[in-house]
Amino acid sequence: MAQQQENPFFGKDLISVDQLTPQALHFLFGGAQKMETLLANSAKDERLGGKMIAIIFYQPSTRTFTSFWAAGEHLGAKVVAIPAMQAYSSVVKGENLADTVRSISATTDAKLIVLRHPDNEAAQEAAHYAPVPVINAGSGTKEHPTQAILDIYTIYRARGNLDNLRVALVGDLHYGRTVKSLAKLLAQMGRNLQLELVAPQPLQLPTNLRETLESEGVKCHPSNDLKEVIGGADVVYMTRIQKEWFRREGREKLYHQLVEQRCCVLEESLLRRLPEAALIMHPLPRVNELPASIDDDPRAAYWQQMRNGLATRMALLAATLLPQPW
Ligand code: NCD
Repeated sequence: MAQQQENPFFGKDLISVDQLTPQALHFLFGGAQKMETLLANSAKDERLGGKMIAIIFYQPSTRTFTSFWAAGEHLGAKVVAIPAMQAYSSVVKGENLADTVRSISATTDAKLIVLRHPDNEAAQEAAHYAPVPVINAGSGTKEHPTQAILDIYTIYRARGNLDNLRVALVGDLHYGRTVKSLAKLLAQMGRNLQLELVAPQPLQLPTNLRETLESEGVKCHPSNDLKEVIGGADVVYMTRIQKEWFRREGREKLYHQLVEQRCCVLEESLLRRLPEAALIMHPLPRVNELPASIDDDPRAAYWQQMRNGLATRMALLAATLLPQPW
């Protein structure tokens, strides 16, 4: 009998992509493919056997929130989901994160907590206090590991491997957390990675992260002109300029200047240069950087990407809660 691979996610927090190894990720990819089949067959699945999951979000979300919720439901979990903790919980009265996660655990008997929070270290802190595993569904401007997993799964499913990739990361590389987690995960997963960092100076990737990537052998090329790099890209990963962080830091004027410059917009005219087999990706939401007229282009992968979020999150919930998840 074939030896079953050990489940590296069972009972563990997922706070950062730094925790993920290629073996762990391939284990999850295998599960996600099984989940895709299950979804395609609309098969009833009760493997989570009514276990409770708590989803608590302190920042807005469409896809991450609903896909975690649906992922639990598809596998027979019970879900308590609170989409605006900052408005509706005792956080309004001054409750701290440590007390909140301990209270949620006690009142719901949740076996797992999914957390989105505006502070960079919130997931780490919650994991310290929660008696059950915590999954980071986006923390501050720093990390978004489950988005990176679905992004890299999308690239892997389309290409069959993660080597020799030329990826253009475009837009807000300064505040955007998806691009940071994706860049780190790509560096861990593939050989011979080239990153085109397309952003004006104020939106460039933080220097310390770029240096870390370079020390891992990734070739990084900062640029402020998508036109120059699009012809050689395997993946164009678009992102929105993160208005809320500019507002927080009193930099609205700069935000409006950058939007007016249309500095990181995927104009339709640029698509002629993009190779036929390339993927156009975006974590969404989009604002004006990715025109809807591109949606029918066969290279537009963002709907599939979002769909992959459901399958990969189903796999992650199962792997965190069950020693033998599939
Ligand atoms: C992203 C996020 O929250 O960081 N959204 C998502 O989870 N798909 C991207 C963004 O808000 O721009």
